[in-house]
Amino acid sequence: MKSFSIIISGIILFTLNDAKCQDVDYYWRDYNGVVPFDAFPGGTDINGNDTYIGQVYVHGHGLFIGQIIPGTTQVDVACYGVKKRDYIVKILCTQHKDNFSWLSTTWTSFHVDTINKHAVVGGYDHVGNKGALNIGRVMHQGILKIGQVASFRVEQVYFYFAHKNRMEKAKAFEVLIYDKNEGSLINPRTFIVTE
Ligand SMILES: *[C@@H]1O[C@H](CO)[C@@H](O)[C@H](O)[C@H]1NC(C)=O
Ligand SMILES: *[C@@H]1O[C@H](CO)[C@@H](O)[C@H](O)[C@H]1NC(C)=O
Repeated sequence: MKSFSIIISGIILFTLNDAKCQDVDYYWRDYNGVVPFDAFPGGTDINGNDTYIGQVYVHGHGLFIGQIIPGTTQVDVACYGVKKRDYIVKILCTQHKDNFSWLSTTWTSFHVDTINKHAVVGGYDHVGNKGALNIGRVMHQGILKIGQVASFRVEQVYFYFAHKNRMEKAKAFEVLIYDKNEGSLINPRTFIVTE
């Protein structure tokens, strides 16, 4: 009887945990050419159609951000040149599309512009100056291009993207922000004790 109740409480705990997990802000699903219903649109193609945000693993280099064109499996990323991948590709998904926004910023003002904002981390550069990459976009030759923001650099935060087999970079771009409810960002004043 004792082991039975342990099993039951185990099931209840598991179920509660599961319910909690469904309310994450955003997540990455496997991408094999089919865009999931909850994928977050980012950027557009030459016709103005929606594209999506892809995360690509490049062996020895890290995780990079590229543009997913529906119907195609290959994603090009700017990764010390252009790398093309059609395996181990992830797509950004969410149940809270309205909580995302794009913030205009530049290579020198990035760190000030994003104070108290949650810039979505989408990758990691493991080469040279190692660090986390944010998700960015810029309008280039009629395409709203998706790529990565090298935000780990101090004062030289470039946006990198792949275009026609070339790695391009921009000094003015937009970065993807996730707006959590206000209470969730740490407010320094919370820690002041008044008696
Ligand atoms: C993309 O846009 C073109 C032109 O507006 C349209 O004809 C076409 O159906 C669209 N394709 C998709 C996959 O939505
Ligand atoms: C989405 O944004 C609203 C308004 O700021 C906020 O109240 C809500 O908690 C946010 N939801 C999530 C899941 O972050």
